[in-house]
Amino acid sequence: MKQTRLLFLASGRGSNFAAIADAVSRGEIPDAKIVGLLANKPAAALDLARARGVSAQLVEASEFRRPDGKWDRSAYEEALCAEIRKRQPDLVCLAGYMLLLGKKIVSEWAGRIVNIHPSLLPSFKGLNAQQQAVDYGVRWSGCSVHLVTEDLDAGPILEQSILEVLPEDTGESFSQRLLPLEHQTYVRALKKLCAHPYRVDGQKVIWG
Ligand code: GRF
Repeated sequence: MKQTRLLFLASGRGSNFAAIADAVSRGEIPDAKIVGLLANKPAAALDLARARGVSAQLVEASEFRRPDGKWDRSAYEEALCAEIRKRQPDLVCLAGYMLLLGKKIVSEWAGRIVNIHPSLLPSFKGLNAQQQAVDYGVRWSGCSVHLVTEDLDAGPILEQSILEVLPEDTGESFSQRLLPLEHQTYVRALKKLCAHPYRVDGQKVIWG
C-alpha cells in the first residue's frame, strides 16, 4: 500500500507533532511517513523533530520584508510553498502553526491540509479557544481536527473529541487537560485519512 507522506507546519512547542511522530514510530499509523517539519520561527517543535530523526527547517517568516520594512507576506508564502513542494507531501499537517495560510497554499493543497483546533467547532474559533469555552460557561468543549480552507477554523470536520469543563477550570487548566485528548484525536484522524479515501462535499467529509 502506498505510504501517505505527512509534512508538518509548526510555530511552537510541538506536542501534537511529537505525539503523532511517536505514534508513527510505534506503527500506530501504519500507512504514514513523516517527510519533515517546517517552522515559521525558532520553535521547540524543530528540536522535537530533529530528536526524532525528522528533517526540520526554519523558514523565518519575519525575515521577509519589503523595501519599506513592512512584512512581505506573499514573499514568505512563496518561499514556504517552495519548501512544501520540495517535500512532496500528500498531507500538510498544521500542528500549532500560528500564521494564517494564504490563498495560494490553501488552493494548491486544497482538501489536503489538516489542522487541530482546541474547541468543538464551529464554536470558539480563533485564538484562546479553551479560554473562550471556559468564559462562555459551556459544560462541554473539546477539540476538532478539520481540513483547512481559506476561512479561519471553518473547514470540513474530520474528527472531534469532547471533554467536560469543570466548575473550577481556568483556561489554563482546561487547556492542560485537553492536550492529551488533542494528541489522541489528531492521531485518530490521521490514521483514518491515511487508510481511507475521502472526498469533500460542501462542509462534509465523505469517507470511501
Ligand atoms: C494546540 O492546542 C492546538 O490545538 C492549537 O495549537 C496548540 C498547539 O500545541 N492549534 P502544540 O504546539 O502541538 O503543543
